Amino acid sequence: MSKLLYIQASPRGERSSSTDVANTYIDAFKAASTGNTVTTLNIWDMDLPEFDGDRLNAKYSFLHGQNPSEAEAAAWQEIVAVTEQFKDADCYLFSVPMWNFSIPYKLKHYLDVITQPGLTFSFDPETGFFGLVTGKPVTAIYSRGGEYTNAEAKGMDFQKPYLEMAMGFIGFREISSVIIEPTLADPDTVNSAINTAKQQAATLGANS
Ligand SMILES: Cc1cc2nc3c(=O)[nH]c(=O)nc-3n(C[C@H](O)[C@H](O)[C@H](O)COP(=O)(O)O)c2cc1C
Repeated sequence: MSKLLYIQASPRGERSSSTDVANTYIDAFKAASTGNTVTTLNIWDMDLPEFDGDRLNAKYSFLHGQNPSEAEAAAWQEIVAVTEQFKDADCYLFSVPMWNFSIPYKLKHYLDVITQPGLTFSFDPETGFFGLVTGKPVTAIYSRGGEYTNAEAKGMDFQKPYLEMAMGFIGFREISSVIIEPTLADPDTVNSAINTAKQQAATLGANS
């Protein structure tokens, strides 16, 4: 029995290849146990708090070991609510299109909201930063128009390395990935890439 939080980062609905493959993962996850549940966050439908003004000042207060003002503390509660929702899961699934070699800005916004001192990471003067979201697995389904797994283009991929670094920073150690590429190729190549990705996703979903 496990609670999956699915963070959907493509706004392309049924046309999205990352969402399509993520659905295969979810089907396998649900089939693995009747007690398994899925909460979907479509980040394009979320009214994420802007991370400026009082919310930003509150973060710096915490980073400097100071107390935020009353207004800053109140604004911070919106950040806490989104972050607590994120932490209230046993396992995680992201579906992520590549946008300009990285992740869509809405997903970056979400990560900026949930990556917070005292909530998802902390600091030890002796050992440095450490994550607070520990012992939970995360799977990310990455979709790209081009090909980035070959040696020449690997350095242009700021999508997978960034998400993995961001997840690692807040504590994730068990990070699995499925790559769909190249999705802007001819239909046969695309179908083959999607089918291969679906097989990998089904295996991961059944075993998470
Ligand atoms: C705004 C935008 C930027 C994109 N940038 C890239 C890119 O840098 N490299 C790439 O290979 N594909 C790029 N693409 C293509 C998408 O990565 C590709 O179509 C992907 O399969 C989309 O995933 P989805 O179908 O799940 O939305 C871009 C697409 C959009 C809409």
